[in-house]
Amino acid sequence: MRAVSVFPNDKAIKVIDNHPAPALEADTEALLDMLEIGVCGTDKEIARFDYGIPPAGSPYLVIGHESLARVARVGSAVSRVKPGDLVITMVRRPCPHAWCRSCRAGRQDFCFSGDFTERGIKGRHGFMTEHVVDDASYMHVVPAALRDVAILVEPLTIAEKGLIQTWDVQERLPWTAAGDGDGHGEKAVVLGAGPVGLLGALALLVRGFEVWVYSREHEGSSGAQWCDSVGAHYVSSQTTSLPELAKLVGNIDFVYEATGASALSFQTLEVLGINGVFCFTGVPGRKAPISIDADLLMRNMVLKNQLVFGTVNAGPDAFAAAIDDLGKFYARWPAQVKALITGRFAPDQVVSLLTGQAGGIKNVIAFS
Ligand code: BGC
Repeated sequence: MRAVSVFPNDKAIKVIDNHPAPALEADTEALLDMLEIGVCGTDKEIARFDYGIPPAGSPYLVIGHESLARVARVGSAVSRVKPGDLVITMVRRPCPHAWCRSCRAGRQDFCFSGDFTERGIKGRHGFMTEHVVDDASYMHVVPAALRDVAILVEPLTIAEKGLIQTWDVQERLPWTAAGDGDGHGEKAVVLGAGPVGLLGALALLVRGFEVWVYSREHEGSSGAQWCDSVGAHYVSSQTTSLPELAKLVGNIDFVYEATGASALSFQTLEVLGINGVFCFTGVPGRKAPISIDADLLMRNMVLKNQLVFGTVNAGPDAFAAAIDDLGKFYARWPAQVKALITGRFAPDQVVSLLTGQAGGIKNVIAFS
C-alpha cells in the first residue's frame, strides 16, 4: 500500500508502496478507505525532523493526522459507524498507566504521563495512506453534505476544545451565563490567519462574538478580504501596533492564539482585558529566550482577574462540536469555508506541501 513516510534516521521523506495493508483484528474495529489528509504545521515540523516518533521497531512514521475517510468494513461489535459512512478519526490514544486518571477516563487529550501515542505524530502510523484500521470508538461520522469541507474538522477541534474550557472557566462570572456558549457582547482577538486561526474566528463568530483577526499579512491581502467577507475585522500587525489594536477593540474578553509566535503572544497578553481569557494553541519552535514584561503581566493577571491557559489535542466532545459547527459555518459561508481548502494534491506532491513551497491555507493530500 502507498504511504507518505518520514524516515527520521535517514532524514528522508518518501512515498513508499510497500506499507503493509491493515486488516480487521478485533470486532470493535473498522476498516477505512482514506479520502483526504490535511497537511498542517505539525506535519511540516515532522518533515524537518524536529518532531515525530515512528512506532516501536519501525524505521519510518506514516504521517497524517487530519483525515477524512469512508468506512469500508466494520467488525461484528461495531454500531457507531457503518460501511459507506464518512468519518473523521481522532488522533490521540491513551497511555497504558492505571494511575493516569485522564486516560482511564477516556480523556487522553489531558494525559498526565506523557506516554500517550498520536496517529501520524508519536508512536503510531498516521492516515496518509490508502487504508487504515482503528477502533470505531475513535471515529466520528460526518454528514455526507460536508464531504467537500470535512477535512477541516480536526483543525477546528483545537478551537472547540479551547472554547469548551473557556465556557467552563467563565462560569466564574455569574452574570454572563457563560456555560450556554453565547458570546454576544463579547470581543475576541484571534492571533494568526492560518487554518487554525480562521476556523477559530468562525467558531467565535457563530457564537456571537465580535472578532478581530490580527496577523502579519497586509490589509489588502486575500486573508484580510476573507475575514471581512465573514464579518470579522482584519487588522495587520504591519500597520497597527498591539496598543492600537486594543484601542480599536475596547475590553478584549478573549484571545485565541494560533501562531506559535511567543513574542507576539506575550505582547498581546499585555493588552488582554478585564476578566479576560487568553487561550494558547501554538507550539513555538525552540529558539533563544525572549524578554517579557513579567511585572506588567503578573500585575494585570491579578488586578484584572485574567486567566491564561494552553490547550492541546481534543476529546470526543470537541470532535462532536466541530462537526456540528462546521455544518453551521458551511450553511452560512459556503464559499468562504470552501476557500479555506486551497489545494488537493496527489501523494507524490507531498514534499512541496511539507516544505511550505506550495503556499495556500489548508492543503490536502487526496488518496482517491
Ligand atoms: C494535532 C494534535 C496533537 C498536537 C501535538 C497537533 O497538530 O492536531 O492532535 O495533539 O499536534 O502533537
